[in-house]
Amino acid sequence: MTTALDIGTLKRLRILCISETGWVDTTTVFEDIRAAGGPETDQYEIPWPPFGSLHADNAAGFSALLEAEATDGSACRLLFDTGWNPAWMDRRFAEEGIDRLLQDGQIQALIVSHEHFDHFWGIGSTLRHCPDLTIYVPQGFHTAGYDFIRQQGHTGEVVTVPTEQPLVLFPGLALACFPMSTLLRVQGENVLYANLQNQGMAMVTGCGHGGVLNLLDYARRTFRGGERMHAIYGGLHISPLEDWDESREQVVDALSGYGIAKVACNHCTGHTAVEKMLERGLPVVQGTGRNGSQTNLYVGNGDSLELG
Ligand SMILES: [Fe+2]
Ligand SMILES: [Fe+2]
Repeated sequence: MTTALDIGTLKRLRILCISETGWVDTTTVFEDIRAAGGPETDQYEIPWPPFGSLHADNAAGFSALLEAEATDGSACRLLFDTGWNPAWMDRRFAEEGIDRLLQDGQIQALIVSHEHFDHFWGIGSTLRHCPDLTIYVPQGFHTAGYDFIRQQGHTGEVVTVPTEQPLVLFPGLALACFPMSTLLRVQGENVLYANLQNQGMAMVTGCGHGGVLNLLDYARRTFRGGERMHAIYGGLHISPLEDWDESREQVVDALSGYGIAKVACNHCTGHTAVEKMLERGLPVVQGTGRNGSQTNLYVGNGDSLELG
């Protein structure tokens, strides 16, 4: 039995959804993957933007801005993922003022949750405004990924998050790397945990490929206060292709038992999964269905989640 890790406390955390739409049409993306050789293909061999122009109009990306204030009054901003299509990210960054924040040095670091194209390949849009931004990548990142960061003009530090121990980035904010292996040979995913004063913890995921229940259980056994999860934000990868079965049913059932007060899932969670959550009375945070998000069922592009 190891002692629970005390990561400090946040007074508040605001999460702005810059973009949760990985792409416009799922069928097109999966047909591209099949044509390229199937799910075991190296993603860098698929000529999607910015490496090629294949179905450029279908490419969007996942990215969020986190604004944290600690109980000691200090504050920080972090970019969580950089999206995919540089044209789409340029547009969303301009619409949400992210370009100015980067230029003014108001964002302290970029967290890359995992190497998937829709979370990472738009990094040029970020680095154009702030080439020396500190970048966190998960253990398992490929040489092609590190090379790509450099080729996009990065001059700052790249920190690889080890799977053994979470990194405390700021009082009340810890980044943990989960070993996992998934579609298109991507390995390792960084998940952010925040400890909110009086409320409990919040968990921020890109896709949650490690399994949402595993990631919640990790918080319970790792962090002081981790048994009380107040909010979750991001992709939960339950029904990304909108198919449904008993195992997915069990995940949603089990999720109800964690007592989460705000379920702000989006991206690859799946509309079907969100509808099942609502049927079970889970407190799903609704959005406005603007800026390219296809539904108001959940937090979408331009919507924000205020915690604390
Ligand atoms: Fe994704
Ligand atoms: Fe992913």
